[in-house]
Amino acid sequence: MTTFDPKTMRRIAIMTGGGDAPGMNACVRAVVRTALNADLEVMGIQGAYAGLIRGDFIPLTARDVGGIIQRGGTFLQTDRLPQFKEDAYQEKGMQQLHDHQIDALVVIGGDGSLNGALALHRRGFPVMGVPASIDNDIWGTNMAIGVDTALNTILEAIDKLRDTASSHKRAFLIEVMGRNCGYLALMSGICGGAEVILIPEMEVSLEEVAERLIDSYQRGKTHAIIVSAEGAAHQSDDIAKYLKEKGTGFDVRVTILGHVQRGGRPSAFDRLLALRLGNAAVQCLLDGKTGMMVGLLGREVSPVPLEQVTSQPRQANLDYYDLARVLAR
Ligand code: ADP
Ligand code: F6P
Repeated sequence: MTTFDPKTMRRIAIMTGGGDAPGMNACVRAVVRTALNADLEVMGIQGAYAGLIRGDFIPLTARDVGGIIQRGGTFLQTDRLPQFKEDAYQEKGMQQLHDHQIDALVVIGGDGSLNGALALHRRGFPVMGVPASIDNDIWGTNMAIGVDTALNTILEAIDKLRDTASSHKRAFLIEVMGRNCGYLALMSGICGGAEVILIPEMEVSLEEVAERLIDSYQRGKTHAIIVSAEGAAHQSDDIAKYLKEKGTGFDVRVTILGHVQRGGRPSAFDRLLALRLGNAAVQCLLDGKTGMMVGLLGREVSPVPLEQVTSQPRQANLDYYDLARVLAR
């Protein structure tokens, strides 16, 4: 475990990076108030690594983070800066942290943001990471902040689409986010009673998709739901075109849920997770830990080295895939 001397710590900074996720605000609130409680000053970096490079720092007080626990998005703003992988940009970031007299940094974000945090840690700067991304593709935590809310948003959409699907005897192909990870598709598919789930971790031929729909139709189903991850092998339009040409009995429609999955008030689960992880991140720094991400392992919050977190992709659990097939009769 990497450590530094926390007694020298006076001022920390915080940023939210990558795609916004519901619960990021609740987490910032927890970081700020835990830090203030320990007599630390807190600066917010607006716009993630792009804001760091620009020197876009603002002081954060307890009142600045009032009234945000229930808000989706991130009031600190986020941005993507692919150049932060380059030495020159990281050096500029280090310089800004030094110029603003920052002693440690908390990064709340997805896999990419945590890679950025690791880069700063390797340059000797004390950092703590907090996993937040609707994709749930981060190794070292059962759940990332935002996943539960996104899952509930998707389920609400699936339930509504099923109403119209069964009224018209249609098949709906619903595309959900997740980048290269099938977690959102698999979990929303199983909880939404999908007939077919398509994820990057398990290739299924178009022929098999059609066969499953034909089988469902012949068994008297009035609708069929296909949940497809955006990272799955086949594009949604190609799947729909194939199914229309093949003829399955169902008329086919495609709904791409898109960014609606990222918005909205965080669920109770996400708020609690955000508060626990934000608090733990500051606590770890106060204990002299650095270069770690706080994750939810079982029911406990534990620090995991960023080196481990960023060196392996987290994939959907295929046990659920088998369960979904059994239950889709
Ligand atoms: P997320 O954090 O949600 O995974 P991204 O993958 O877009 O989102 O990453 C967010 C930002 O993190 C990138 O725009 C970039 O600034 C930074 N980043 C990503 N990968 C790296 C890396 N390997 N090294 C340094 N910074 C990185
Ligand atoms: O990482 C979160 C995420 O919403 C992914 O699921 C999706 O692929 C991506 O971000 C979309 O990014 P953007 O907001 O840049 O379109």
